[in-house]
Amino acid sequence: MKQLLDETEIRNRVSLLAEQIAHEYRGKPLTVIGILTGSMILISDLIRRIDLPLRLGLIQASSYRGKTVTPSKLIVNESLVPDIAGRDVLLVDDIFDTGFTLSEIGKKVTARNPNSLKTLVLLWKEGRSRVPFQPDFFGFRIPDSFVVGYGLDYNDEYRHLPYIAVLDEKEM
Ligand code: IMP
Ligand code: MG
Repeated sequence: MKQLLDETEIRNRVSLLAEQIAHEYRGKPLTVIGILTGSMILISDLIRRIDLPLRLGLIQASSYRGKTVTPSKLIVNESLVPDIAGRDVLLVDDIFDTGFTLSEIGKKVTARNPNSLKTLVLLWKEGRSRVPFQPDFFGFRIPDSFVVGYGLDYNDEYRHLPYIAVLDEKEM
């Protein structure tokens, strides 16, 4: 597999994002909501570097793409979302591809009456968006190829890799 982003690059960028978030939310009641499963590594690294009081929530989204890379219907489990009424919510996902996942989950979070809602993703794929908004914070713009590692999977594998790599079609 071809490595795209190494551990050091990711660590440095996540630290900068955490500083940006701390600056943005100082004095506000921040709740960070991570989208499972892909964002779990990012969330755990990110929140430990945000020098602010904050609460953590989780929401689970699965698109049941199985062995394919084409998204299908999104299944959302909201049972781990805490009360966010009147709080400032930062919704975190691993990657912004078509934007469909963040858009759908954003609607569900908005329905719970937060004071504000912004989005953060580690990776933003070039030229794939099919929704009329962009992530508020992002780590890296990446070319349109399928990537794994640092939480991102292919068929539930490779999430544990500490770096991000491009998965060749012959490895699928
Ligand atoms: P979107 O809904 O098309 O923006 O896709 C977002 C979701 O699809 C992410 O939460 C990932 O789970 C998955 N995804 C999209 N692109 C990739 C990729 O290159 N590698 C691994 N998962 C991906
Ligand atoms: Mg995912």
